[in-house]
Amino acid sequence: MRIPVDTVRITEVGPRDGLQNEKVVIPTEAKVAYITALADSGLRVIEAGAFVSPKWVPQMADTAEVYREIPKDPGVDYPVLVPNMKGLDRAIEAGVKSISIFTAASDTFNKRNINMTIDESFANYAPVAARARHEDMRVRGYISTAFGCPYEGDVAPERVLEVAARLLDLGCYEVSVGDTIGVGTPMQVQGVIGMLLQVIPASKLAMHFHDTRGTALANTLAALEMGIAGFDASSGGLGGCPYAPGASGNLATEDLIYMLDRMGIETGVSLDRLVAASSIVAPYLDHPLPGRYLQACTKGTLPVGTKTTAVQ
Ligand code: HMG
Ligand code: MG
Repeated sequence: MRIPVDTVRITEVGPRDGLQNEKVVIPTEAKVAYITALADSGLRVIEAGAFVSPKWVPQMADTAEVYREIPKDPGVDYPVLVPNMKGLDRAIEAGVKSISIFTAASDTFNKRNINMTIDESFANYAPVAARARHEDMRVRGYISTAFGCPYEGDVAPERVLEVAARLLDLGCYEVSVGDTIGVGTPMQVQGVIGMLLQVIPASKLAMHFHDTRGTALANTLAALEMGIAGFDASSGGLGGCPYAPGASGNLATEDLIYMLDRMGIETGVSLDRLVAASSIVAPYLDHPLPGRYLQACTKGTLPVGTKTTAVQ
């Protein structure tokens, strides 16, 4: 096996993609402690929350408070999700330096997730991205349902390429290609990446795998073989999208780091400290964290469920 990558960039999405899908309310101070510990583990990009409608995703309603309270590590980028100009207003007011805009490769999912078709989302995001760049913010782009849609089924790789190119045209520094419902498999992943690489350099691509069917790590290896060095993951395997039925957690960051460490690929992340960060949030959940590395090293020792707060 030849892996043409010696260093991997990780975007930690646990505090956003992870917590947005949890039924329990995580207190703001616990989110702050969790994000602080994630930064202490060596992660350099940590998604801190989402300025989306609190009616649609109540779990992210305290993002402004969380963002304000995080002791900002100067070496860490703390992006937040922004779905529209109102979200950008809130991000600017909170002093955010980096945002992520998000659309999809299938219209039906996009309608359910942000109440816009793909074309409508680009009309919405064009002024958002322009203003964010004017404010010197970094802008990242997400493509959901790149490997399959819960409503439309198969998604053509050409569609993914088209959406990725449109996001880069808006000035995104990187496009995260999402397997929202975790249906992708390694050869499919290489097919989609092969098509993207015909037009887009690998340095502008990241993969965002959900592990719904246990293929996230295999898909990561397939992407590494193609020279992709950007991966999204959530500590402990927290996660899912509330508007994608059946979507479960992201690739667990610990599982990714364990594999990369043992392959001699640099990440700058301490696995022990990462486990400590996951252990901060674990007691608040109403289920054990699904990450395999975490389970292997903490089974029976974490007081899972002992601090569960009100279930919504
Ligand atoms: P809408 O209902 O069409 O919006 O929702 P609207 O403009 O008609 O506004 C409705 C109400 O929301 C109004 O309030 C607005 O002011 C308010 P009201 O007058 O009823 O009191 N509102 C807002 N409030 C706070 N912040 C805002 C905001 N915007 C409007 N930014 C909207 C459209 C986009 C707002 C909504 O659909 C939404 O918030 N969707 C977000 C859904 C979401 O967060 N999904 C999960 C993240 S995406 C994901 O997980 C996938 C990813 O991980 C990649 C992958 O795995 O594929 C990224
Ligand atoms: Mg996701």
